[in-house]
Amino acid sequence: MKDLYNILSEKEYLEDLNRISKEKKIPVISYEVGRFLETIVFIKKPKHILEIGCGEGYSSYFLVKNLKQASFTGIDLNGKRLAKAKELIDLNFPEVDTNFYSGNALEIIPDLNFKFDFIFIDAAKYEYPDYLEILPEKLESKALIIADNIFYSEKIFARYVKEHDKNSVEGVKKFIALIQNEEIFDTKFIDIGDGLSVSIFKN
Ligand SMILES: C[S@@+](CC[C@H](N)C(=O)[O-])C[C@H]1O[C@@H](n2cnc3c(N)ncnc32)[C@H](O)[C@@H]1O
Repeated sequence: MKDLYNILSEKEYLEDLNRISKEKKIPVISYEVGRFLETIVFIKKPKHILEIGCGEGYSSYFLVKNLKQASFTGIDLNGKRLAKAKELIDLNFPEVDTNFYSGNALEIIPDLNFKFDFIFIDAAKYEYPDYLEILPEKLESKALIIADNIFYSEKIFARYVKEHDKNSVEGVKKFIALIQNEEIFDTKFIDIGDGLSVSIFKN
């Protein structure tokens, strides 16, 4: 029973974090997507996780929670958000080996000197295809790649897209086409939160 009571108090804590991020206009993953990520980590037991766009660490919490003898690397363009993410993860999971980098993931990833077996993508939608382009060199065989906002608030299906959403919608559409390249990835789409793609790197 203790674990179940812990889950309930953790839920309140996470709902607070979620609300605080939203108040600051930081779009975060849904609670259900978070629980999905934590379950996948529990089952897959990755050794090196990379999160592109960790924000203030709400999503990182779920990615790190079930990590054992493994490392987590979080990248965010926004230094203040990244500092908050580091604080949150260090506070809750001091035993986990973490690296936090502030800056553009497209510049940081090529210089990282190890490979990853789990990547979570949740940064700029218009750049999704660019992340995918630089990732393969940094992927372990059979690495799992999960990307959020695949539906982009249903705008991906809309006939008319407002001017300020066009680049993001185009980016996500291009990403969807690339991630469905069956020679490189095995991909499924999941209808939770704002839509997820879940892919296995075939190499
Ligand atoms: C949707 S928010 C991340 C929310 C976080 N994953 C969560 O659910 O708690 C997207 C983040 O991506 C970051 N970002 C955008 N472009 C980036 C880039 N090229 N490199 C690194 N981070 C980027 C933004 O600063 C922002 O904090």
